[in-house]
Amino acid sequence: MRILLFTILIITISMFANISTYSQEKNKGEFAFKKCKSCHTLLKGEKHRVGPNLYGFFGKKAGSANKYRYSRAIKKSEIIWNEETLDKYLENPRKYIRGTKMAFGGLRKKEERKILIEYLIKMTK
Ligand code: HEC
Repeated sequence: MRILLFTILIITISMFANISTYSQEKNKGEFAFKKCKSCHTLLKGEKHRVGPNLYGFFGKKAGSANKYRYSRAIKKSEIIWNEETLDKYLENPRKYIRGTKMAFGGLRKKEERKILIEYLIKMTK
């Protein structure tokens, strides 16, 4: 009986631990996205700002959002957005796509890019 109670206790604790790491991950993503927020929206139907609304961008060709005026550089880049291309772009946008008009210095920390990319994929689906 004691073992059973103990087991239940452990399971309960680990469930809570899971939930809290999940929300921590989500919060980290949200936190990282603060750097992008002034220029980008994520959800369907939201407006373009300085940069395009990112709804549905993942898996598409760079420069595909409707009614947004991209630079020629990104239009002709032929890049498809996946984890790898996004990682390179976010690390150093102007190095990866010469002539992009995204005025953002880049995220140097691999871990931060990873968290942000996961967040972007989830939020723009
Ligand atoms: C100062 C404004 C600004 C900031 C800050 C900014 N962006 Fe951008 N972003 C742009 C602009 C402008 C473009 C269009 C680039 C072009 O046309 O060359 C763009 C393009 C993009 C694209 C390509 C979209 C497509 O449709 O192909 C992605 C993805 C992106 N930004 C993600 C981010 C993320 C993630 C961050 C935060 C780490 C960020 N941006 C920060 C302005 C910004």
